[in-house]
Amino acid sequence: MKNISKRNLKSILLSMFTIFIFVVSLICTEALAQNGEPFPVNNPITSVIIQNNSYFIIDVHCKSKNDDISFHTLDKGELFGWKFRVNILNSTLFFCEFYNGSTNLGVFEIYRATRDMLRCRICTWKAEEDGINGYSEPRDPEPETLFFKWLN
Ligand SMILES: *[C@@H]1O[C@H](CO)[C@@H](O)[C@H](O)[C@H]1NC(C)=O
Ligand SMILES: *[C@@H]1O[C@H](CO)[C@@H](O)[C@H](O)[C@H]1NC(C)=O
Ligand SMILES: *[C@@H]1O[C@H](CO)[C@@H](O)[C@H](O)[C@H]1NC(C)=O
Repeated sequence: MKNISKRNLKSILLSMFTIFIFVVSLICTEALAQNGEPFPVNNPITSVIIQNNSYFIIDVHCKSKNDDISFHTLDKGELFGWKFRVNILNSTLFFCEFYNGSTNLGVFEIYRATRDMLRCRICTWKAEEDGINGYSEPRDPEPETLFFKWLN
């Protein structure tokens, strides 16, 4: 009698443990799939890189609707960039204001998902004397293209 109830207790504990593991793994999978978003986001990680390729200092201030990526001064050969995933609606948009000292060079959409998501994963922009050239990776060797001409 004693032996049987011990065995029962063992099997009850074992099945409780199994259910517990099952529930925990379910919660974990859910959490991973959602990635902090209301829906699972499967778009790949994308990076934007801006490089000073001119002879003057370039100040850049980048933002999206929700994030201010702050102000950066690009000195000699300096790079500035960030990483993100395109949202589920493909509406991700970042724009940057460019300055040469106190001269406003204009506002350029540095990443627009509908324009760029098939064009590049590593989206490199070089700020040149005349404007901004775009390079795409991994789809290069497409030649660099002037995307935006400075205002003045
Ligand atoms: C970047 O900006 C600096 C100013 O600090 C300038 O001297 C340099 O030539 C620029 N260009 C490159 C390619 O570094
Ligand atoms: C977003 O873009 C990808 C790749 O072009 C496409 O497969 C997907 O259907 C798009 N999603 C929406 C909501 O437009
Ligand atoms: C940026 O500033 C430099 C130095 O003042 C000037 O020579 C250059 O023409 C300016 N470039 C633009 C695009 O405003």
